[in-house]
This record gives sequence, structure tokens and C-alpha cells, in this order.
Amino acid sequence: MKDIMIAPFVCDMRNITEVMYRLGWDERNGGNISYLLDENVVGEYLDLSAVIRTIPLGFDATEISGKIFIVTGTGKYFRNVYADPENNLGIVRIGADGKTAELLWGYKDGGKFTSEFPAHLMSHMSRLSVDPENRVVMHCHPTYTLAMNYVHELDEKKFTHTLWEMCTECIVVFPDGVGVLPWMLCGTNSIGEATAEKMKEFRLVVWGMHGIYGAGKTMDETFGLIETVEKAAQIYMLTAHLPRINTIRDDQMVELAEFFGVKYRRDFLNL
Ligand code: 13P
Ligand code: ZN
Repeated sequence: MKDIMIAPFVCDMRNITEVMYRLGWDERNGGNISYLLDENVVGEYLDLSAVIRTIPLGFDATEISGKIFIVTGTGKYFRNVYADPENNLGIVRIGADGKTAELLWGYKDGGKFTSEFPAHLMSHMSRLSVDPENRVVMHCHPTYTLAMNYVHELDEKKFTHTLWEMCTECIVVFPDGVGVLPWMLCGTNSIGEATAEKMKEFRLVVWGMHGIYGAGKTMDETFGLIETVEKAAQIYMLTAHLPRINTIRDDQMVELAEFFGVKYRRDFLNL
């Protein structure tokens, strides 16, 4: 059996949480990540028949039973993941009944997966239905994106359009736009269901006055999506109170999207 501490998926989780914490996106226990793993790869590091304990899910995840995820723990600080992965992360398999998670590694101090696991698993189900290669769901509280929530209409067409205007490459990076949910109570199945519904259409979903969700095939893709939104939101917040002299026009966005060959939300432009 190989040493789990050097498993690429554990390294990915340690590195990305460290970077996100340093960027100020994950104060205290803010944020959570789930990463769908390949059973054969996990089997090189763990005895897949050794279940440490089972943890109730609180909703039905039969659709993805048997799937294995590495997930940040609830109440755990991203700041501490790098130094102590075994307490702050866990590897769980969705049970055959779809109602429990079988702990295979981690949450060593008796902890459990993030309180946002419903939103994560429901989002995984949605993304897998439209992109079988989706692996990562990431939630965080990026500063400028959150600031923008207080001064910009929470309308997904208008919000996406403003972000697209802020950096030339935005429409190329997230041509599918950004879904937006109003403020909702977090940690619930309802916000999970609403997020998952948006995830059928978007890889990015803003939780009004709370944070953002991103989904992608790799850690890099998912992080890059959120990072690009955050950069655009930063430019917006640095300029929103100043007279706008220049802008990227909609016809230029079309030019960009067509040159880079991306399928974009044409209905989010004002053509
Ligand atoms: P958890 O500590 O349960 O992951 O919650 C953090 C968070 O960001 C809630 O939205
Ligand atoms: Zn949050």
C-alpha cells in the first residue's frame, strides 16, 4: 500500500487550500472542496473494504452511490489543512443505500464532511449529467466577488455581463456565464438543490452575499474559474465609483468568443 500522504489528490487538496487561504478567500472555516476520485487510484493507498465509520448524509445520493470523494471537514480551517490533512480532510464513499457516507480515511478527531456536502454532492450530480469528466466542486468567500454582491444587481445576465466587461479574457474563460442565487440559508438541502439546478447550466454559481461555487474537471480549472471571476470583480470594485471612460463593447466580446471558438451565452449580451 502506498503512503496516502503523498497521494496526488491529498497533495492537490493541501496545496489548493493553502493558496485559497493566502488569497483571503477562506477566513476561519469558510469554504469547502470536494473532489471525486478514481476508485482504482484510491485503492493503491487505502484498503477500500476498511470502513472506519459511517456518517448520515441527510439526503438521497443513490445516483452516485459507490463514488469516492476527498472532502474538507466541517468547521475546519483551510489555514490548517496543509499541516494536518488527516484531521481536516476525509475520504468518503457514498454507501449503497445512498443515505450514508462511509469514512475510509481522515476526520481523525471524530469530525465529518462540510455542512455544504448536500450542495456539493447535488452539484456533482448535475455537472456529471452534462459533463461526465467533472471532478471538482469548490466553494469559497472571495473578497471582491462578495463586495460586488452588495453594490451590483444580483441578476445573472447583468452580473455576468459586468464581469465579462472587466477583463478581456472573461468571456473566453467562462463563456457559460455565472448563475446567481439570492441570499439563502446555507448548509441546507434547499440551497443544495437550488445550486445543483443552476449547475446544470453554469460552472459558476454566486450565492448572494455569501460566496461562490465553482465546478470543473480539475482543481486548476475550477480554481481558475473562481480566480478569474474574483479578478474581474476586483477591477469592478476598483472602478465602479469612477466615471467609466472606456469599456469592452459587446461586439468585441462576440469577436473574442468567436476567435477562441467558445460556446457563449449570446443572450447575456445586449446585441
Ligand atoms: P463548513 O465549515 O461546514 O465547510 O462551512 C463553511 C462554509 O463556508 C459554509 O458555507
Ligand atoms: Zn460559505
